[in-house]
Amino acid sequence: MSKEYNIAVIPGDCTGPEVVDEGIKALEAVSLKCGVGFKLNEFSLGGAQYIENGTLLPEDILQELSEMDAIFLGAIGHPDVKPGILEIEILLKLRFELDLYINLRPVVLFPGVDTPLKNKGPEDIDFVVIRENTEGMYAGSGGFFRKKTPDEVAVQESINTRKGVERCIRYAFEYCVNRNKDKHLTLCGKRNVLLYESDLWYRVFNEVQKDYPDVQTEYQHVDALCMWIIKNPEQFDVIVTNNMFGDIITDIGAIIQGGLGIAAGGNINPEGTAMFEPIGGSAPKYTGMNKINPLAAISAVQMMMEYLGENDAAKILLVAIKNVLRNDLKNMEAGKMGYGTSEVGDLVVSYIHNHI
Ligand code: IPM
Ligand code: MN
Repeated sequence: MSKEYNIAVIPGDCTGPEVVDEGIKALEAVSLKCGVGFKLNEFSLGGAQYIENGTLLPEDILQELSEMDAIFLGAIGHPDVKPGILEIEILLKLRFELDLYINLRPVVLFPGVDTPLKNKGPEDIDFVVIRENTEGMYAGSGGFFRKKTPDEVAVQESINTRKGVERCIRYAFEYCVNRNKDKHLTLCGKRNVLLYESDLWYRVFNEVQKDYPDVQTEYQHVDALCMWIIKNPEQFDVIVTNNMFGDIITDIGAIIQGGLGIAAGGNINPEGTAMFEPIGGSAPKYTGMNKINPLAAISAVQMMMEYLGENDAAKILLVAIKNVLRNDLKNMEAGKMGYGTSEVGDLVVSYIHNHI
């Protein structure tokens, strides 16, 4: 074994630990098969810790996480904690403080998985959304004036820096060049209304495009793009967009690829560390029931292997996931899979073992 990766594991809340267990099971199996060395470092963060002693994301943990090769996150979100606290103080703080400025979300329909889109199949649904992950409406800029009076004002500003926009767009062009599809990059914005923000994105997009003459580019307004993703998903290869639009369109992406049980994403700092997660949230009502689909978490591990350059491991994991979807799972939804959470993990492991 040449290198030993330091991987942080944050199981998080509710069903997070259950799916993380299956992700680790798959990681262990594929690493053994491919000779990938790793050390797991577990961090207890989330609603339970917050309720117990007020801990959210301490500085020393943040420092340790910044030194990891990669981070594997289950889910953050607890039914007994008011919305906004854990999300902002843990998940968004991780993205911001570690400067994980790319949120990479593949939208791929695998054979055997149902999509709600009529007459569309795996050959039609295969694109990647690159969402800016540290700025925009998520930057937390704004405030109240005369709060809770009849004259109340609420301001929520969208922050877009030239540097932030450019590095995201550049990453998208690079990604598009290296992706084995149409070399077609769509910028998603709202130029007809957001005269400043979308104008900056549009100008930077056109400037950076000059460095990538082989990439075919297109601009779409976000509302129209939401429609086209449903109507003609096959027209998309790579989409680049801001934080808020990216959040919304990737939920549409998740449902057309079979739902939150399969959708995974990477929060990436190309010059630093990266954090991989199933994007479905903590699904509190299924906690401890062995019903939730772990394939999104296993796909997050697959993306992590790809990011680390462990291409054989990534490939074997992908084949195993596809096999389970094609041959075994009845349905993608929690409780309807025909197997429990841990059995789905076992199936993935058996395909990894049997891979020739
Ligand atoms: C996501 C989630 C988060 C986001 C929430 C939990 C803060 O919806 O990762 O897409 O809005 O980014
Ligand atoms: Mn979201």
